Amino acid sequence: MAKLLYIEASPRKDRSRSTRVARTFLAAYQKNHLDDSIETLDLWATSLPRFDGATIEAKYAILQGQALTPDQAQAWKSVVEVIGQFKSADKYLFSLPMWNFGVPYVFKHYIDVLIQPGLTFSFDPQSGYKGLITGKKAAAIYARGGAYGPGTRMEDYDLQSKTLAVTLGFIGLTDLVNIFVEPTLGPQEVSEAGFAQAEELAVSTARSF
Ligand SMILES: Cc1cc2nc3c(=O)[nH]c(=O)nc-3n(C[C@H](O)[C@H](O)[C@H](O)COP(=O)(O)O)c2cc1C
Repeated sequence: MAKLLYIEASPRKDRSRSTRVARTFLAAYQKNHLDDSIETLDLWATSLPRFDGATIEAKYAILQGQALTPDQAQAWKSVVEVIGQFKSADKYLFSLPMWNFGVPYVFKHYIDVLIQPGLTFSFDPQSGYKGLITGKKAAAIYARGGAYGPGTRMEDYDLQSKTLAVTLGFIGLTDLVNIFVEPTLGPQEVSEAGFAQAEELAVSTARSF
């Protein structure tokens, strides 16, 4: 029995295109993986630890191979907890709106908590950085008002999918399927066609995920 962790980053719920395609993905996934469990992490309903004070000092202490002070150890516990939930999953589904070409700040906050030495990556002066989340797979649904695919001349502005691919790759998660919902703004028939295409791809991806 595998566990899929679904990480939701749009605050728009039923009006969110990325969330709606993710729900379609999850329904198809559940239908085809009857024994698996799905856990949802709604980043807008979650209080993530602030990354300052003793928490950030703890990160630097770990990077420098130093022991944590009692204050740092206490602060670090909530980081370990967030990462524990992430690591407990076998598969991941992300739904992400594009905000100012990148990801919403709640998702950036999640990344800043998630990427930690000794927990999701390791560092060795000889061999460099190594991701510790290996042998797992992920799918991501990206909604954006405009179009950023090949031939649009907007490809370089797509920091949304780049952010996810680079950060997940850094922690070892390289098996990533991308599903784009675009353009969500603009002429209705164009955005509806893009939405329908994304839903179709979500269903076919979920079946064999
Ligand atoms: C704060 C904010 C910034 C946005 N920035 C962009 C942008 O840079 N490029 C773009 O194409 N659309 C942008 N949009 C439009 C959203 O990407 C679009 O509405 C998308 O459908 C949001 O995903 P959701 O429907 O899952 O919430 C922005 C929307 C908001 C609210």
